[in-house]
Amino acid sequence: MKKSRFAALTLSASLLLSGVVMMPADFGGQATAEAAKPGNPAAFDQKIISRIDAERIYSDVRYLSETIGPRVAGTAEEREAASLIRERLESYGYQIEVQEFSIPDKMVGHLATSNGDEVKATFPSGSGETPEEGLTAQLYDAGFGYPDDFTEAAEGKIALISRGELSFRDKIDNAAAAGAAGVIIYDNSEASGPPNLSIGGDAPLPVAGIKKVSGEALLEDVVATGGTVTLKVDALTGQTSQNIIATRAPKNVSNPDIVHVSAHFDSVPLAPGASDNATGTSTALEIARVLKSYPIDKEVRFAFVGAEEIGLVGSAHYVSTLTEDEVSRSIANFNMDMVGTAWENATAIYMNTLDGLPNIVTEAALSAQERIGTPSELVLYKRGSSDHVNFHEAGIPAVNFIRREPGTAALEPYYHTPQDTIEFVSQERLKEAGDLVGSALYSVIRKN
Ligand code: BES
Ligand code: ZN
Repeated sequence: MKKSRFAALTLSASLLLSGVVMMPADFGGQATAEAAKPGNPAAFDQKIISRIDAERIYSDVRYLSETIGPRVAGTAEEREAASLIRERLESYGYQIEVQEFSIPDKMVGHLATSNGDEVKATFPSGSGETPEEGLTAQLYDAGFGYPDDFTEAAEGKIALISRGELSFRDKIDNAAAAGAAGVIIYDNSEASGPPNLSIGGDAPLPVAGIKKVSGEALLEDVVATGGTVTLKVDALTGQTSQNIIATRAPKNVSNPDIVHVSAHFDSVPLAPGASDNATGTSTALEIARVLKSYPIDKEVRFAFVGAEEIGLVGSAHYVSTLTEDEVSRSIANFNMDMVGTAWENATAIYMNTLDGLPNIVTEAALSAQERIGTPSELVLYKRGSSDHVNFHEAGIPAVNFIRREPGTAALEPYYHTPQDTIEFVSQERLKEAGDLVGSALYSVIRKN
């Protein structure tokens, strides 16, 4: 027994070395590690992989995405997800901190024709507001919104502008210069929902985004007939979101190193957020359950964060609450975001780092892969776009684990759409992510 365990450890150490060699520090875009052989888990890996329960993860993904549904920052649904996470972690015996923080004002509104037809629309942050009763006006067809697209007839009307060619900002400024009272931008390609417009700061006019088909219908039914629309845009102020932080400190270690595991539980509007990011949330919860009483010699903190989708706001808040001393003791961040898509092309687990370079987390994951035999290839890749950004910027080695298509780095087609449902989540891949990240994490924090 003793002998074979020793052999396993020696083997994993040599595989670890070959894993590092396979991944040159100066790689340009991505490097891949060969798909693992059957694996030879160490006893400490076995403590993780024998207990990570894919059905439990899957049922949490179902609860978050179906029972709760879209969990937009600042909403009751996001709050409900936070309570579920909090109760669960409390039941596991972690010390819990609930962090509440304010989020930027959000624009909400309504668009309808004079016939009473409602038009599905989005209202970008930075949009101007309308009077409380709304702005009722005729529409003006302003093409792509070039200065020359506007005549005197645009004055006092709502400019209907196609997406494309000019920035949203230029279109809005040109409409304002022509004396328009508002702007509606319609998409220039088919999409399942109205576009989310980034208008880069405060606009002098109320602005709405609508789908291509809706724009075409307005051209035909309203512009051509001289009818009106009513546009209403208001700022929703004073909203808050939360982070749930679960901590377990090692016994008899003063000033221990700290390892942060993070996952965001909010989603974008209209998306059930099954893959993005009920998968990361539920897998991190399961890792917390499995690890709840194993001996560790580092402090582990599970940071379940809100408001990621509106600009990584929750993780920025969490990192900002760390003292200088805590930051200096922080050695790693394992960030789980979109770890369980069933999309068939997403055969690789990407390890996104901000600088594209390996670090303690990528190395722990690669050696865990070699030991336990994770079937998917691991790809080191340079990319932000998730909460690891804030840890990295504080100087903490950070990795975002995310499933993607190897070579193209494409995400599943359901990303940020109403189709981001449990139908496209794979229980097998959740297990793979839980085993991989759980084993890598435990290899870093365990008491030897
Ligand atoms: N779950 C995605 C993560 C992601 C990572 C998407 C890498 C694309 C590439 C995340 O929730 C997300 O959608 N991020 C935003 C950026 C964020 C700052 C709002 C994005 O990439 O658009
Ligand atoms: Zn996400």
